[in-house]
Amino acid sequence: MTYEFDKQYWEQRWRQSGAGGGGSMGTGAPNPYLPRETGELVPGTALDAGCGAGAEAIWLAARGWRVTAADISPAALTRAAERARVSGVSERLRWVETDLSAWNPGMRFDLVTTHYAHPAIPQLEFYDRIAGWVAPGGTLLIVGHLHDHGAAGGGHGQSQGPGHHPPAEASATAAAITARLDETAWEVLTAEECDRTVTGHAGEQAHLHDVVVRATRRHRSHRADEHGRRVGAPVT
Ligand SMILES: C[S@@+](CC[C@H](N)C(=O)[O-])C[C@H]1O[C@@H](n2cnc3c(N)ncnc32)[C@H](O)[C@@H]1O
Repeated sequence: MTYEFDKQYWEQRWRQSGAGGGGSMGTGAPNPYLPRETGELVPGTALDAGCGAGAEAIWLAARGWRVTAADISPAALTRAAERARVSGVSERLRWVETDLSAWNPGMRFDLVTTHYAHPAIPQLEFYDRIAGWVAPGGTLLIVGHLHDHGAAGGGHGQSQGPGHHPPAEASATAAAITARLDETAWEVLTAEECDRTVTGHAGEQAHLHDVVVRATRRHRSHRADEHGRRVGAPVT
């Protein structure tokens, strides 16, 4: 099966999910790699690119980040904003309905992250775009999925239900991603491919093959928060 990863596709998936027909899309827990990779960073500004129902953006906001959360699907953003309201973190979140393959944020962020987002443009081109929005000294965190030719289910991130396979072009290896990060401009801190199992709404299990890349953009000067700590950098 092939997909057109356009607005219509994603809006339909989120509407189906809202009606209970979309597997495990929009389950509430943040992606486990997000706290692991960013939990030690001093909060500053963050972009969640392809935020879906907002679990990661809300997690970041609850930890003090000022988050811009962008997605192409109005249905996803409506659900995310309602969750944020219930969580009491709305004031630190800005929801942006946009096509990230064409959007210009007009600013750089201390953290740019994306989890399983794959727009209609080539995956590595998408990662190039969002990497360009990381401020000097800031962090890029990419969580994606690896195509699995032989899997019996899953493989489309925790947001999709078991039995849903992404095509190879929606997938990128850790080596392919880090090869685009010029080492004079980036320090790669994490580059790994790992397996995990997730459980969907109906208790069904999916085996996921993930790719996780974290890198910091090298800088000459840095920005400090009100305590003099370097934003986007580990707490020391
Ligand atoms: C598999 S979902 C992942 C959602 C969320 N990050 C998560 O992990 O639960 C991919 C998300 O990317 C969004 N997306 C896809 N193409 C996009 C584009 N061109 N611009 C903005 N968002 C896009 C979709 O609407 C969807 O919410």
